[in-house]
Amino acid sequence: MRAIDWQDDTVVIVDQTLLPHRVEHLALREPAELIVAIKRLAVRGAMALGVAGAMGVALAAVRARERGENVGAAARAAARQLAAARPTATNLFWGVEQAMMALPGGASAVVGAALALRDADIAANRAIGERGADLLGRPARVLTHCNAGALAAVEIGTALGVVAELHRRSPLTMTYATETRPLLQGARLTAWELGQAGIPHRVVVDGAAAGLILGGEIDAVVVGADRIAANGDTANKVGTLAHALAAARAGIPFLVAAPEATIAADTATGAGIPIEERDEDEVLSVDGHRIAPPGARAVNPAFDVTPAELITAVVTERRTLPLGRAAEATGSAPQAAGS
Ligand code: MRU
Repeated sequence: MRAIDWQDDTVVIVDQTLLPHRVEHLALREPAELIVAIKRLAVRGAMALGVAGAMGVALAAVRARERGENVGAAARAAARQLAAARPTATNLFWGVEQAMMALPGGASAVVGAALALRDADIAANRAIGERGADLLGRPARVLTHCNAGALAAVEIGTALGVVAELHRRSPLTMTYATETRPLLQGARLTAWELGQAGIPHRVVVDGAAAGLILGGEIDAVVVGADRIAANGDTANKVGTLAHALAAARAGIPFLVAAPEATIAADTATGAGIPIEERDEDEVLSVDGHRIAPPGARAVNPAFDVTPAELITAVVTERRTLPLGRAAEATGSAPQAAGS
């Protein structure tokens, strides 16, 4: 099962808002339908968003060709709207750009570029899993946040790719999935994926992680990323920063697993990463039921930025980038991600 795919000139996604209770696919024919799906997180996660960006441009080009309309104009309009759907994950803009670069070749070339990006994503995730497992060695108990698994990519995933590879090499005794308030990607999606893979796991509330880490219950933390600035500062799902602070205090590795496409050379530091602010109701309600008193307000940043100094390393499909805490793990001096 792929989180996102291309079939009969439509984009097919697993509707992640229904998981884990129902596995339903949506076939999306128009870019506007895909944009709605991105906004409501039916398709989500940095790498899946990259593929969605490219496939959204491909949808626009193919529909325009079918209707006898201007393919270039349709692709350019869709590209603008797709890139505005969510602001933080750099992969979305990258995917849109990759597809647009094929536009001079016409609609078929754009589809070809989107499919190539899909296939490259699967290969990248496999390589990231191996590189991450090489770096971490043989931890028995790992903790991950949000969902950086197959559902956040096309197949395999980044952080969960590392977890799966670790487990294949030497069985993990436990994987802790933080529930990830407010939309519960950890409790709903990561727990589902770990269950499917037969990897031992427990869901914990986000606030339990620091106590588990400082209590010696966790050997390593591995997370994905939505944007990595040139200096290594990393945006990921809100709550990631707290786990990084606890990991630094406890002296355990904090690994970021992400493809090269997540590194944004044009974003110098974390201060330049736009953080998506989502609807207050996501915090004030659970499963559609209001839990906060009438009149209570919320702030709902969807991501936070972990400074490079708290990160052991970023592993991509091509390289391992030692960051601020690398010296603890390897004895080497810290380096910037772009170097
Ligand atoms: O809001 P989401 O669910 O799209 O956020 C996803 C995350 O924060 C993931 O950890 C990140 O995209 C990495 S996925 C490989």
